[in-house]
Amino acid sequence: MLSSNKLSSPIAGCMRWGVWGACFDVADYRAMIELCLESGITSFDHADIYGDYTTEAEFGAALKETPSLRQEIQLITKCGIQLPNINKPEFRIKSYNTSAAHIIASVNKSLENFGTDYIDVLLIHRPDSLLNPYEVAEAIAQLKEAGKILQFGVSNFMPQQTNALRKYTTIEYNQLEISIIQLIPFINGYLDNCLEHQIIPMAWASLGGGILTDEGHPSFRSIISVASGLARKYNTGINQILIAFLLAHPAGIIPIMGSTKIDRLIQAKDATNIHLTREDWYGLYLSSNGEELA
Ligand SMILES: NC(=O)c1ccc[n+]([C@@H]2O[C@H](COP(=O)([O-])OP(=O)(O)OC[C@H]3O[C@@H](n4cnc5c(N)ncnc54)[C@H](OP(=O)(O)O)[C@@H]3O)[C@@H](O)[C@H]2O)c1
Repeated sequence: MLSSNKLSSPIAGCMRWGVWGACFDVADYRAMIELCLESGITSFDHADIYGDYTTEAEFGAALKETPSLRQEIQLITKCGIQLPNINKPEFRIKSYNTSAAHIIASVNKSLENFGTDYIDVLLIHRPDSLLNPYEVAEAIAQLKEAGKILQFGVSNFMPQQTNALRKYTTIEYNQLEISIIQLIPFINGYLDNCLEHQIIPMAWASLGGGILTDEGHPSFRSIISVASGLARKYNTGINQILIAFLLAHPAGIIPIMGSTKIDRLIQAKDATNIHLTREDWYGLYLSSNGEELA
């Protein structure tokens, strides 16, 4: 793990905690935060848009009940997507906005939602075709200067997009879709760019968003069959093997677990003790990619 990392592995992903998933009430949020902390999972991933702009504030309501929790956790949040919905009638269509004004307003709103005066990590959610790296860098400098954000990164940025922004500001994380069914970052330079510039990759949908467990899906049968064999070999479960597959990469991938069940988050924690052999890693890779190596 690179030295600038301040986050736990895994990170708890909160996208499905609110109305986009489990519909937790405040007591559920608090219980889940406390169970995560007891398990050594201290980092929580959010975005302004989660739950149609409601999940940050629900999480914040739980924090406000026990203010001492704030100093025990790291909050990651994202901005840059404008999502039209009932809570944002001013947005006519889905669009991206990385103007300085939008970034600063979004961070101020996230601070209010969480009831905190700092965000540990702010990410730009998606590459914006109109992104002006100089303007973004100015906004980030201003937010850091005010102590409102501690670290900055991007999400879903290709290497060249990361490089353009990196000329003007320090990028410490790139949150990417990486899993046994999303191998592109291993192949197309995303993780090499992280290695080259000491950017820490976070993996979203690290278990494929749950679809791997759909036994009726024929494309996943070979993956599950190979992962089951490895689970027996390493005396563990399939989820742990699929997370260990990510942890084996030298870039130091931090998986974000989207499960709303503490047991599944702990499975990802347990995966840190599994060290797949190279043959086992490539066996899994092949089960997904389907092509013999050159
Ligand atoms: N930066 C971005 O663009 C971006 C995009 C999407 C997500 N994210 C972040 O990444 C996090 C994770 O994403 P994700 O939720 O799509 O990823 P995920 O962890 O791959 O999937 C979580 C889903 O899989 C289900 N699941 C996991 N293991 C299962 C099993 N063994 N059997 C049945 N269901 C299983 C979970 O259900 P249960 O709740 O029942 O366990 C949950 O619905 C999000 O919370 C969010 O923080 C970021």
